[in-house]
Amino acid sequence: MKSLLLLTLLGLALPAWADRLPLPSDTPASFKSECGSCHLAYPPALLSAADWRRTMNSLGEHFGTEAEPAPAQKKEIAAFLERHAGQGGKLGNAGEPPRISKTARFVRKHDEIPARFWHDPRIKSAANCEACHTHAADGRFSEHDIAIPELRE
Ligand code: HEC
Ligand code: HEC
Repeated sequence: MKSLLLLTLLGLALPAWADRLPLPSDTPASFKSECGSCHLAYPPALLSAADWRRTMNSLGEHFGTEAEPAPAQKKEIAAFLERHAGQGGKLGNAGEPPRISKTARFVRKHDEIPARFWHDPRIKSAANCEACHTHAADGRFSEHDIAIPELRE
């Protein structure tokens, strides 16, 4: 009984990875236009400041494409991402180039998904959050908002 209460309290005290990750109110328009056209404008809390810096410093060669914004926008986006970055210690190593989908935290949160789903033509890639999280653009990542019926439990 006591340990159950403790677990509940710990759960409430550790909101580090919640199912609601809306973009912060100070999100610059440039982040959505420059970083949300090819994929989801990812929640900044899902990478550390160091990993966002590495990402922003290598946009000339970004996963086989070129994603370099104009200098003023780039500066604004980089500052925003670092302001709202998550803690590297909690997220885990994101690899090189940094990927949210490579962090230990992401892997843990998705470890019940059968391997075949990551190669499902409906999904294509772990980076394609919206293929499963229908309301990812609104920051909603709860199990109730999963597009693939087999994954909804
Ligand atoms: C021209 C298209 C394009 C633009 C613009 C773009 N990206 Fe990407 N990005 C990609 C591609 C392609 C991938 C790899 C997707 C995959 O593996 O399925 C990717 C992957 C990523 C990943 C890793 C996703 C993961 O966890 O696996 C991050 C982080 C990222 N982009 C951040 C950004 C940021 C920040 C910006 C804005 C400065 C940006 N991207 C703009 C094309 C783009
Ligand atoms: C193959 C489908 C799929 C893809 C692609 C996917 N997810 Fe998930 N995600 C899930 C499922 C299923 C869960 C577990 C939902 C649950 O039971 O709470 C989950 C859980 C989560 C959670 C935790 C929610 C909670 O309740 O704590 C977050 C945050 C999340 N995903 C973010 C992302 C992000 C960001 C991306 C893209 C970089 C992504 N996911 C890509 C299927 C997916």
